[in-house]
Amino acid sequence: MSLVENPLVQEPTVHSLIREIDYGTPLSKAEKSVTLSIDGKQISVPEGTSIMRAAMEAGIEIPKLCATDMLDAFGSCRLCLVEIEGRAGTPASCTTPVAEGMAVCTKNERLDRLRKGVMELYVSDHPVDSLDRVRYADVDLLATAAEVGLEEVRYGFDGARHRNPGIDESNPYFTFDPAKCIVCSRCVRACEEVQGTFALTISGRGFDSIVAAGMDEKFIESECVSCGACVQACPTGSLIEKTVIEKGKPEWSAITTCAYCGVGCAFKAEMRGDEVVRMVPYKDGKANRGHSCVKGRFAWGYANHRERILKPMLREKITEPWREVSWDEAIAHTASEFKRIQTKYGRGSIGGITSSRCTNEETFLVQKLVRAAFGNNNVDTCARVCHSPTGYGLKTTFGTSAGTQDFDSVEHADVIVVLGANPTDGHPVFASRMKKRLRQGAKLIVIDPRRIDLVHSPHVEAAYHLPLLPGTNVAILTAMAHVVVTEGLVNEKFVRERCDWDEFSDWAAVVSQPRNSPEEVAKISSVPAETIRGAARLYATGGNAAFYYGLGVTEHSQGSTAVMAIANLAMATGNIGRPGVGVNPLRGQNNVQGSCDMGSFPHELSGYRHISDDATRAMFEALWGRPLDEEPGLRIPNMLDAAVDGSFKALYIQGEDILQSDPDTHHVAAGLAAMECVVVQDLFLNETANYAHVFLPGSTFLEKDGTFTNAERRIQPVRKVMEPRNGFGDWEITCLISEAMGFSMHYNHPSEIMDEIARLTPTFAGVSFEKLDRLGSIQWPCNEKAPEGTPVMHINGFVRGKGKFVITDYVATDERTGPRFPLLLTTGRILSQYNVGAQTRRTANVLWHQEDRLEIHPHDAEQRGIRDGDWVKLASRAGETSLRALITERVAPGVVYTTFHHPDTQANVVTTEYSDWATNCPEYKVTAVQVSPSNGPTEWQRQYSELVRKSRRVAATVEAAE
Ligand code: SF4
Ligand code: SF4
Ligand code: FES
Repeated sequence: MSLVENPLVQEPTVHSLIREIDYGTPLSKAEKSVTLSIDGKQISVPEGTSIMRAAMEAGIEIPKLCATDMLDAFGSCRLCLVEIEGRAGTPASCTTPVAEGMAVCTKNERLDRLRKGVMELYVSDHPVDSLDRVRYADVDLLATAAEVGLEEVRYGFDGARHRNPGIDESNPYFTFDPAKCIVCSRCVRACEEVQGTFALTISGRGFDSIVAAGMDEKFIESECVSCGACVQACPTGSLIEKTVIEKGKPEWSAITTCAYCGVGCAFKAEMRGDEVVRMVPYKDGKANRGHSCVKGRFAWGYANHRERILKPMLREKITEPWREVSWDEAIAHTASEFKRIQTKYGRGSIGGITSSRCTNEETFLVQKLVRAAFGNNNVDTCARVCHSPTGYGLKTTFGTSAGTQDFDSVEHADVIVVLGANPTDGHPVFASRMKKRLRQGAKLIVIDPRRIDLVHSPHVEAAYHLPLLPGTNVAILTAMAHVVVTEGLVNEKFVRERCDWDEFSDWAAVVSQPRNSPEEVAKISSVPAETIRGAARLYATGGNAAFYYGLGVTEHSQGSTAVMAIANLAMATGNIGRPGVGVNPLRGQNNVQGSCDMGSFPHELSGYRHISDDATRAMFEALWGRPLDEEPGLRIPNMLDAAVDGSFKALYIQGEDILQSDPDTHHVAAGLAAMECVVVQDLFLNETANYAHVFLPGSTFLEKDGTFTNAERRIQPVRKVMEPRNGFGDWEITCLISEAMGFSMHYNHPSEIMDEIARLTPTFAGVSFEKLDRLGSIQWPCNEKAPEGTPVMHINGFVRGKGKFVITDYVATDERTGPRFPLLLTTGRILSQYNVGAQTRRTANVLWHQEDRLEIHPHDAEQRGIRDGDWVKLASRAGETSLRALITERVAPGVVYTTFHHPDTQANVVTTEYSDWATNCPEYKVTAVQVSPSNGPTEWQRQYSELVRKSRRVAATVEAAE
């Protein structure tokens, strides 16, 4: 058969698809450079560069199959042969490093003949009857065949000798056809080097060799985490996305940003017409460097889920059924209700909640609507319930409410402390980068009540795991400080130069008191003193040491105190202001950093400037043409309290589900039920919408332009790849409400909103859509001093001037265990699901997590007569719920744990009203509970299931009407 007849080879190139150059091997970071000649061209490259990469950089492409620049060179396919003057043979260019004065020939008759011969063997082992399967994909194998000029294959295409156990379709998102595998090992290496899961191996030898998942299992049954790195790496289409097979070859693409977590992975949205065919991680994405997790890469189907609401709806009372209305009627009704309520109950009787799922531009507009059109400062955001203590703690100590580093910084860390975070589930792409550094030899300290995966995973072993009792973070951090101070491990030079010495001295005097010693703290934290001492010594003396922390730090009554305790440790040891160190909050939602930056808190305008500052307010007033209230407004919990008290009557909620995400569900429900007009703007009828009078359908990240800001302060573009199915981007809906309320808010495009943000916010002064297009992303501060942004902060001094040591005395939470509630509940996320699950539950990701389970230690389970899988009642003084038990030693005796992704569990029914003293961030991570056997769901859970069935019927009716 002639290869030129092959439909794949004949497929015309579609030029509007973004194609990234594959340099074949990773970039060498050596400082010394080497000059050589390749095909007569002189080129200088860093020492350690492969000949293949040097050639690519000189514009000379050498055929390759087993090499890709995401992976270390492997040298198995023998296609990239070259000749080197003065050396015998034909070495592989991917595994041969450059040398000074080297003269390389990449193409001559002999090399062509050798390559053709190798290629012919590969192609003959690639059965043509399955070429249809890869017709639409970019298949390097066939492109390379064309590149080496192979037109005829003497041995046929049947691949008859190849071991072929049949196609594995078990994964919901991709398939694996061993018949097309050339055993290049790219998938295996991607799983190891990029993802760090080590789920794939090559089993067997010679023609019997084959890629095997786990212990030769189906992909779905193995440890594979479905990150898709193997699919991306496969050059033959043996591993391929099911959507590519179903929908066909993508025709065009745009770079955009994942709408799930705060890692902020950049993707190419590859499209066919206005349909997404696949999401491919973008190599130039500076947060993810070409990697992704199962959510961003595969779980985007919710955009077309049949339960998505596309038409506005109204109802007079929350007990009535919804009535579909036009956009005009919905907006007019919303505005007139807001105005009526303000006339009757006063200007402060209404407010708004911005969304960390929406863009910066959309968030900015919601707070503008509240401040300028509503005329008060009753605006808040979901960061209230997650990282508000980070904002407070880091602003107080360093002067800026944000993490200090970029993600690249982890590549320079020698000691990594993970505190109250579970990166492999919560921030998986960053976890992969962290694990890579750990495999290179960095040391790991995990401080967490659970034995999270990082404590012990393939080729990663924590040097110390501190399984503290929930609620004792501050005690542990202070005990670590005690060791640093009393054992003479303070970096005095750094502290004297960079920090306030008097404040340091006061702090040092307090932490060195015997009550803060590891021996004393061991009694309250359950962590042995020697473990605390060892961890503290390693942190202080192990080289570049970096803290990465999550909600296990912030969601406590001492959340802000713990953030400041981390900052104190970093300053005392000089671990601030250079790559490899720092204090790094792992932010939860895609744009939680951005929503805080944009002025979503009731006391702050954009850029964290206090509303009471006359000069700042004057700037906004001049541009917006409205006087602004100088008094901070209500936080979410205060709005709900005021609603129950009868003084707060209406709320505009953009893209949040506060009924599910906020603590003490019964209180949230009571607050919402007491209001006269609740407006919910979302993709789906979420739980909060059960209490809404107006439902405004929202748009997905695929349907609008804008920006998200990730955990490293990186502002990244979100690009519209399809028209909004609901008719409007969320920013347009806010503008419509504002106009209807009589406050003019008109923009032709979100870029104009960013221009306004830049005019009003010094840390964003240099940001524009044009610059984002040019640079790809920008880390704020971006202004005259740093026109291209700031990867690492506080390099030559703290933003606030001198670093501030704050005394962080440990105060035990009021939430105590006792005879009635003897166990401590803590909560967290799982890899496949996202927060309240509104999106991920509407994708095939449910396959991995169909229900929330309660993790309980075997000892506690046995005492209560609970077996694995039994229904159990989880009760606290706030409420109770039922779920099934998972017996595991991941949790210590006395501690239980659950996720909160499923509304029919609603873990927040049991969480209490306690919150962080400084920011009101709820104490989700410590609830005293009792666990007992139960017969199944509670009464409210049964009622809830009925409600869900009803709302599904509404969605189905709407769909049928369309
Ligand atoms: S499945 Fe693809 S990437 Fe993996 S060894 Fe086979 S051809 Fe290579
Ligand atoms: S969910 Fe987070 S880690 Fe996963 S692809 Fe999206 S941004 Fe990346
Ligand atoms: S690309 Fe160099 S040996 Fe395969």
